[in-house]
Amino acid sequence: SACSDDEFWLFGYGSLIWKPPPHVDRRIPGWVTGYVRRFWQASQDHRGTPEAPGRVVTLIERSFWSSLVDSHASAPDKVWGVAYRIKASKVAEVKDYLDIREINGYTIHYTPFQPADGSVPIQTLVYIGTPDNEQFTGPQEPQALAEHIARSEGPSGLNRDYLLGLEKALNELSPESGDAHVTDLSDRVRAIEAAARGSKGTEDGG
Ligand code: BEZ
Repeated sequence: SACSDDEFWLFGYGSLIWKPPPHVDRRIPGWVTGYVRRFWQASQDHRGTPEAPGRVVTLIERSFWSSLVDSHASAPDKVWGVAYRIKASKVAEVKDYLDIREINGYTIHYTPFQPADGSVPIQTLVYIGTPDNEQFTGPQEPQALAEHIARSEGPSGLNRDYLLGLEKALNELSPESGDAHVTDLSDRVRAIEAAARGSKGTEDGG
């Protein structure tokens, strides 16, 4: 069954969508509810540095998010992502891998996941940077956030590649899995870069 003792499921809503952990034997697109995905987690270890943290996604409980003032005033009911099945014998190893890869403010939570194919919900482990963690930024003004992402970089690469990678991975999950917060930030980053290329062209070309 979906919840037998010899297996374990992990929900990914960020980089895990396109960077699976080791020892995965099934990958299922679907969603969780009750949360809002936002680029409100500072990244000192992957898409930024301690001196210049980047920005990555976390999940905010929808009831708490509703109490905040967010320039992106709406959010889809479903947070799309993927559930990964991992053999129980490999769970300790995968948790060690994820703790190294994901720590930086994220903690372990459990939430039901709805497979897109309509099969029964699955209990999943999910890493969330909750509002009480030090890296949680709270609401960010979209243009300032896009500019921040456009100039950030860390050991895992450019912050922009994380944002655009997430946009692409979400677009590939289903025709309904787009997230306006992610596409709006991606559009802003592309515009910032097009403007930078334009002014560079002017400098170079006279
Ligand atoms: C995710 O893709 O779900 C994820 C990745 C890194 C940290 C937390 C969550």
